[in-house]
Amino acid sequence: MKWSEFFTSSIGKKLVMALTGVFLISFLVVHAGINACIFADLFDPNDNGEMFNRAAHFMGSSVVIRIMEVGLFIGFIIHIVQGFAVEAKNLGRRGKGYQVNLGNKGSKWYSRTMGLFGTLLFLFLVMHISQFWYASRIAHDLPEASYDPLQHDLFSRMVEVFSHPFIVVLYVLGCFSLAWHLMHGFQSAFRTLGVHNNRYLHLIRGFGIGFSILIPVLFALMPVSIYFGWIGQD
Ligand code: HEM
Repeated sequence: MKWSEFFTSSIGKKLVMALTGVFLISFLVVHAGINACIFADLFDPNDNGEMFNRAAHFMGSSVVIRIMEVGLFIGFIIHIVQGFAVEAKNLGRRGKGYQVNLGNKGSKWYSRTMGLFGTLLFLFLVMHISQFWYASRIAHDLPEASYDPLQHDLFSRMVEVFSHPFIVVLYVLGCFSLAWHLMHGFQSAFRTLGVHNNRYLHLIRGFGIGFSILIPVLFALMPVSIYFGWIGQD
């Protein structure tokens, strides 16, 4: 079998989804970790986003990380395009589909809604990238940080974006979609990558559920905390 045939076969497509999915999960850990620096404001009222701005500046100014960012966008595009292709095929099959609705016996609910929540997540990402990444890396229309005119004040951008209740609601919904998508995607990826042993599967399932709740809750707390003025009020 040629490589091109392998990657268009159904096992090849699943493998691509799993590998890009694990890569994107590792991005989420780094992204949540850096963004969580905004909570330094809770412990030091003079911080006012400085720790986060410094960390974001370090990420943006390192050549290695900029190159990895290109890999990240390629990973996102492959994952999304392949995800839509898999979903379209599944819908086609269901269309001709089973005469009897198997309900939860056929597959778990969140497994059958991967396409729906994946699409909502995609829409969230388009909005999110245009509000932050585009402003900081392409348009360069952010104010300068008070402690260093050469650095962007991304935190004040967050405070501005999250002052709108409608946007905060969209972010919380985006985080919910992320939780739902991860809930199935996490275990599914490890299964595809060959973890079939029952003991490890239980472990991965437990870890996956914890991860799928903790990371989106941490993300959701960011717009909510800024909106309610728990952080970012100097
Ligand atoms: C809900 C809380 C979130 C906040 C406050 C937040 C904040 C930010 C900020 C400030 C940037 C720009 C970084 C820079 O240009 O240096 C950024 C970029 C980005 N965010 Fe988020 N983010 C959140 C959630 C998410 C989620 C849930 C995802 C993915 C599902 C995500 C994906 C991305 C991507 C792909 C980029 C561009 C790549 C990068 O700059 O590293 N973000 N985010």
